[in-house]
Parts: sequence; structure tokens; C-alpha cells
Amino acid sequence: MYEQRVVSGMRPTGSLHLGHFHGALKNWVKLQSEYPCFFFVADWHALTTHYDTPDVIEEHVWDMVIDWLAAGIDPARATLFLQSRVPEHAELHTLLSMITPLGWLERVPSYKDQQEKLADRDLGTYGFLGYPLLQSADILMYRAAWVPVGQDQVPHIELAREVARRFNHLFGREPGFEDKAKAAVKKLGSKKGRLYNELRTRYQEQGDEEALQAGRALLNEQQNLSMGDKERLFGYLEGGGRMILAEPRALLTESSKLPGLDGQKMSKSYYNAITLREDAASVTKKVRTMPTDPARVKRNDPGDPEKCPVWQFHLVYSDASTQAWVQQGCRSAAFGCLECKQPLIQSILVEQTPMRERAQRYLDDPTLVKNIIADGCEKARALAAETMREVREAMGLNYS
Ligand code: TRP
Ligand code: SF4
Repeated sequence: MYEQRVVSGMRPTGSLHLGHFHGALKNWVKLQSEYPCFFFVADWHALTTHYDTPDVIEEHVWDMVIDWLAAGIDPARATLFLQSRVPEHAELHTLLSMITPLGWLERVPSYKDQQEKLADRDLGTYGFLGYPLLQSADILMYRAAWVPVGQDQVPHIELAREVARRFNHLFGREPGFEDKAKAAVKKLGSKKGRLYNELRTRYQEQGDEEALQAGRALLNEQQNLSMGDKERLFGYLEGGGRMILAEPRALLTESSKLPGLDGQKMSKSYYNAITLREDAASVTKKVRTMPTDPARVKRNDPGDPEKCPVWQFHLVYSDASTQAWVQQGCRSAAFGCLECKQPLIQSILVEQTPMRERAQRYLDDPTLVKNIIADGCEKARALAAETMREVREAMGLNYS
């Protein structure tokens, strides 16, 4: 809210594949040039389900960061860090847990879904129930405006919004709020102060959304207000108390859905994935052996792209003219499936070449990756410390 920050995390579950790239990473790469972005490895979240295999997590952490960098995440633009190296996330999680009704967590759909899906693991743990609240802490810590996630995560973002609202409701009402807010308006200077008051009136009396947006933008630009005053002015603008934690919104991007090689969801555990940095020979072989429309038994049998996973790949990778070529050639049996796959193999390899090149630097010198993460953790911790000061104070924990 203070600036339009973007926060997102990924659990370190092993090498990323093209499904991750087209479903999430490509979007992160775009966002990093539009917003201040914070991308982190959710290693604690990985432990909620994989607490019995901690050794694999470490390896996955570094592999995943290299995959991010390979995909084009630029550490000069985005802040990259590890959740567990910013222990403030745990502190905020604990403090938020004090005000989070149990029912809110039990009702999050992924709670029961995942327990059923991962029936081979014992997920009757405290940590697993708290998973979405830990996620709320990850997000609220940086006062994120936007959280790019998939559809399945939307209930988690909703929870974060509700928790923020409840927190502000419980702790944002300080004695003398009105006077303090007015004093803060004065600090804006006379011209901006007048504008702020005007926008506030327009929003509160006429419900003018544009005035609200303009008011927020005005506050976002202020460099020399204290954090506390900013919170007061954000809250005062809307007619509430201090807004200590900002309500985030899910940023659902229309991501091209890339299925697995067999048409099911792409997943390492289904053996139907192409990893981000897979070598060219292996990519070629995998695509060449991809199943196609079963109706095309012989070279002269016509087919239907709608019944073929290769077509789904063309939808992601090919331009309109190639797509038209596929439609036409498949239905008329003008060419065989291997020929149809050829431009696809080309496009995937072209996409992957710069990724492999970027990754090589980091594979050759792993200290580069560690340094990027160390720098990112430091930046994240500085912001987290700021938020936690506010949170502790609001909850009556600033003893001296
Ligand atoms: N739960 C998310 C997932 O499984 C990962 C995650 C953890 C996350 N903390 C987050 C995503 C904060 C966005 C913001 O994909
Ligand atoms: Fe699939 Fe292409 Fe073969 Fe048609 S020609 S079945 S789209 S691989």
C-alpha cells in the first residue's frame, strides 16, 4: 500500500519445469520491471508437508534460486530471499495466531484437500493447520499490495486480508487518533495537506473511489513522514483507525496453461515434465515421443488437434501462422506428427538457450547465488524489522 509492493513465494520442491515457467515465473519476470518485488523461497512451508525429509529441502532451495535467475529474475530489480533467514516471519506468525479464530484456518479449502491428497503423510500437525497464516505473515510483513498466485491460492490471500483487517480493527485504534491524524496532515505542508483533506472529503462523503486512489498515491509519494503518521493518514483517509497492516490483493494473471507431455498436469512426480534447463537432446527426445491424437495410427489418418497434447504446446509456443499450419495439416493428414512437433522442439530450445546460459554462471560459481540471497535477506530483514516495530508497539510489546 505504501508503495505498490509485490510479494510472492515458492516452496522448494525440486527443479522447476516449463509449467512453472509459463504458469508463474514468466509473470514474475514481467512484474519485476513494474513494481518493487519480493520473491522468496518458502522453506518453512516446505517443511509443513516434508518435515521428515529435511535433507532434500536444502538442495532444492539453491536449485530453485538458480532456476529463478535462469528464467530471468534479476536480483538488481527484485529482492530474493529465504523465508527462514528472516525470522521475523515466525514472530509475526505467532503474534497473528493470537487473533486468528481457529475456524478461519479450518475452513481454508486446501487444509482438508491436501490432507486427503497427501494421505501418506501425517498432516494432522499444528504447523500444517497454520500454513495459510504463515503465508499471511509472509505477505503482511512487507505490506504487499499485490500477490501473484495461482487460483488455488486465492483463499490464502483472502485469509491474509481478513487477518489484516482484524489486526487493524483491534490494534489500530489508538487514543487521540483524530488529533494525531490532523497533526500528521499538517506535516504534509499546506498545499498537499489541503489536497489530502479534499480527497478525503470526496471519498468519505461521495464514495469517490478515484479520490481514494489519488489520496493513497499522494501518501505513497511522501518521503519524510514517519511510518506511524503514514499509517494514520492511510486510515484517516478511509475513515478507520491506523492501517498498520495493509490488505493485499491476489494478482491473478492469465497464464498460459502448459500441460504435461501426456496432457495431464505437468509435474515432476508424474514423469511428464520438461525441466527449465533440461538439455537439448533430452527435450527433443521427450517431445518426439509425446503421445498424440490416438486416431492418427498411420501417417495418412487425419487427426484432431483438440485431442492432442502437442496442440496444447503449440498454443503456448507457436505463432498464429504455425497454429493454422498445425490445424490444417493435422486434419488433412498433410504431414505426420513428427513433422508437427518439429517447430515446437525448436521453440522450446530457443526459449531454453538463454536460461541455460544464465544458469551456467551460477553453477560455475555458487557463491554468486549465496551472495544474491544474502543481500536479499538483508534488505528483507530491514523492512521486516520496521513492520515488527509497529506491530509490537500496537500489541503492547514495546517495553523499555
Ligand atoms: N503457498 C504458496 C504455494 O504453495 C507458497 C507461498 C508461501 C506463498 N508463502 C507465500 C505465495 C506468500 C505467495 C505469498 O504456492
Ligand atoms: Fe497432434 Fe500435430 Fe499429430 Fe495432430 S499432427 S495429432 S496436432 S502431433
